[in-house]
Amino acid sequence: MATIEHIIPYRFSSEGQHLKRSVMRELLKRASEPDVISLAGGLPDSDLLPTAAYQACLNEVIAHEGGRALQYRPQYEPLRAWIGGWMRGRGVDCDDDQVMITNGNQQGLTILSKLFLEPGEPAAIEAITFTGVQQVTVGRDAHIHPIPVDLTTGADTDAIERIFAQYQPRLAVIIPDFHNPLGVSLTDEKRRLIAAMAGEYGVPVVEDDPYSALRFYGEALPPIRAYDRSDYVFYLGSFSKMLAPGLRLGWMIAPRELVSRITTIRESIDLESSALTQRAVYQFVSNGQLEPHLAQMNAENRVRCEAMLSALDQHLGSIAHWTKPDGGLFVWLTLPEAINTWDLLPRAIDEQRVAYIPGSAFSVSGGHHNTMRLNFSNGKPDLIVRGVARLADVIRAAL
Ligand SMILES: Cc1ncc(COP(=O)(O)O)c(C=O)c1O
Repeated sequence: MATIEHIIPYRFSSEGQHLKRSVMRELLKRASEPDVISLAGGLPDSDLLPTAAYQACLNEVIAHEGGRALQYRPQYEPLRAWIGGWMRGRGVDCDDDQVMITNGNQQGLTILSKLFLEPGEPAAIEAITFTGVQQVTVGRDAHIHPIPVDLTTGADTDAIERIFAQYQPRLAVIIPDFHNPLGVSLTDEKRRLIAAMAGEYGVPVVEDDPYSALRFYGEALPPIRAYDRSDYVFYLGSFSKMLAPGLRLGWMIAPRELVSRITTIRESIDLESSALTQRAVYQFVSNGQLEPHLAQMNAENRVRCEAMLSALDQHLGSIAHWTKPDGGLFVWLTLPEAINTWDLLPRAIDEQRVAYIPGSAFSVSGGHHNTMRLNFSNGKPDLIVRGVARLADVIRAAL
């Protein structure tokens, strides 16, 4: 069947032409059929979201502010101040007026790529990275320099230095904690090095951090931004995974001199974030409800992660290896070369009713055909164990 583009000769912008539909979205549609065990998602379990507490916050805001809560309003200062305090608590030297409320990290990525990146210009992103990072760089037709990643500590800092020195990228994007899709985190030393290199080579580094609050083992590490002395590191934080994705609320820590320029770009996209959501989230966090929520969710995610790792050990221990995250939502699985996880997916869904994301969906320059991303946060432990057993059946049959 002819698509409408074949009937009407639209002339697209370079961005309109280069954007690819997120493969993940298409896959997730099939993974949501009722009897499919989905290890494909990238989201918290709806049953673990603080629904009743958030509803009370919404009610309170509307009862108190009436229609004004539903108006166009500037950024909500008490929320900016709370976020400023949260970031200073993580070692970031910033004032509240450097906190810019966004509609989540994807919007922060969009704003910064609009600010710094022209089509054809060099950009550095991790060789395996979240598809949304690819959309704002590859999708803007940037000239991509993939940063190699290792499966224990993420981005390779020697390679970053080579790329920064040789190509002076207009933008670099790094996911510091519980990487999507790898599940790994940068060491403290790597964070220091990246901050220093951003300043030395004058490369704006976007620190895309939706996951650091989802730690269930070990000590939290400071963000890269905490080591930045040059104002070249742009920190993006999000309430999506620590509170709820559907709020569409996050923040950016930006250099003071750029706040007004960034505000103008943001306004051109969607004016501002929901006044009601900002107030309700502030109500939630300032009531002290965030810490107990995170403690409960992370404890549950730990159990689910352990269930997944021991099921992998039991069913695939002799033929595969995988990352062992200290938090977040994901495990990255590497299978024998003979397996192509993309080709295997229809069979996994149709025959075994289990879904995952093929690793190649995250790969910037192809390859990684024998890898996959598995999510452990969105199902109870027994479901995860059954899902891994089904997955092992498909894989063994293919071998
Ligand atoms: C690494 C990374 N960055 C950004 C996002 C988008 O986050 P948000 O919901 O805050 O827009 C995600 C969501 O999965 C992600 O994994």
